[in-house]
Amino acid sequence: MRTQVAIVGAGPAGLTLGRLLEQAGIDAIIIERKSPDYVLSRIRAGVLEQSSVDLLRKIGVGARMDAEGIPHDGVELSFDGDMQRIDFHDLLGRRVMVYGQTEVTRDLIEARAASGAITIYDAEDVHLHDFDGQKPRVTYSKDGQVHEIECDFIAGCDGYHGVSRASVPQNAIKTFERVYPFGWLGVMIDQPPVAEELIYAHHHRGFALCSMRSHTRSRYYVQVAQTEKVEDWSDDRFWDELRARLNPEIAESLKTGASIEKSIAPLRSFVAEPLRFGSLFLTGDAAHIVPPTGAKGLNMAMHDVTVLAAGLREFYGEKSPAGIDNYSDRVLANTWRTERFSWWMTQLLHTFPESGEFGRRIQRADFDYLCASRIAQQSLAENYTGFRSQPS
Ligand code: FAD
Ligand code: DHB
Repeated sequence: MRTQVAIVGAGPAGLTLGRLLEQAGIDAIIIERKSPDYVLSRIRAGVLEQSSVDLLRKIGVGARMDAEGIPHDGVELSFDGDMQRIDFHDLLGRRVMVYGQTEVTRDLIEARAASGAITIYDAEDVHLHDFDGQKPRVTYSKDGQVHEIECDFIAGCDGYHGVSRASVPQNAIKTFERVYPFGWLGVMIDQPPVAEELIYAHHHRGFALCSMRSHTRSRYYVQVAQTEKVEDWSDDRFWDELRARLNPEIAESLKTGASIEKSIAPLRSFVAEPLRFGSLFLTGDAAHIVPPTGAKGLNMAMHDVTVLAAGLREFYGEKSPAGIDNYSDRVLANTWRTERFSWWMTQLLHTFPESGEFGRRIQRADFDYLCASRIAQQSLAENYTGFRSQPS
């Protein structure tokens, strides 16, 4: 088989890139190692920046998001129970959209299926070949047979544990990483959210987040030590811990019950440099990871593939390599800016056992500054709602 762009991975990055290329008349095949059901079963992001909302509309998959997503004009911060609202709309005239990653992925999968574009699911032993030479190829096994896809370019959209970044020779790539000594224990429940807006809470027992998927489905997280096992967390233990970390009045109105999903996600900051190796480009979580505190990972993935698609359009349409030559620098500039914000939100709101009482006083001073300063609030709002301008 031959295509112009082989896309490895059918997560949000790969599916969005596939759609952008399809609209530009560029041929692409997506190779995914799991089934569509597996891809849809992973509960992750919940918040879309305006630029991601605009992008999904532009590529024709915004209808359900517009009908079912919930626009939010602000978020609440809580520090040992003291509350401060950050009003994005008043501060900057902006808002974000609460619409789950699962739903974004479902909309993209359905649009791709309707268009007839090829996605190969359940592909085993995916390998990348000769992306530094003249004949880039992707091979995979399916139903006991080895298949080969020849292409001009390979887009590595296969997440942090994927094969794309791992295929780059070690001396050609530099990585930067911080692993946090804790994770997020997340619970989904079919109960109305505890508040109209998201609550990001710092407490000496640890971070907590109250989020939602709809007016009847809520998503909650608590910070747990890296060593914790999900089996040790009964629903009751989770609700007790969450309540203990919230403002007492909020805790009182929390509607609990049986969870419908429970999982632990580790926290990590990670950047690879550069992001282009001959005809291979890394995008999304394959290129960088942020701790989820700033709600940025999915939004970064959407930004990366928008830049890549624009570069590929320029390459095929205008015969100019300028866009793809700039890809790495342009994406890395956005990546480091967003890494800084996600790191800052994480260090403001989590408990770091090793930083002691001094560290907590600094966190409190940071929170008090946010409460007192409109400029500090504007800075948070600017970063949370998305700093960059949308590339064309
Ligand atoms: P992935 O979603 O990881 O997709 C990669 C795909 O590649 C997968 O389908 C995988 O099966 C496939 N793959 C892997 N290896 C191979 C291979 N060898 N061959 C073929 N295919 C392969 N982001 C936000 O913007 N807002 C939020 O509110 C937010 N909250 C989050 C909360 C949590 C708890 C977590 C864990 C993450 C959160 N994120 C959030 C981050 C967001 O979920 C990720 O950044 C996003 O999924 C990245 O998309 P991706 O397509 O790059 O990678
Ligand atoms: C959700 C996840 C996040 O990381 C975040 O910052 C906000 C919301 C969520 O899953 O709803």
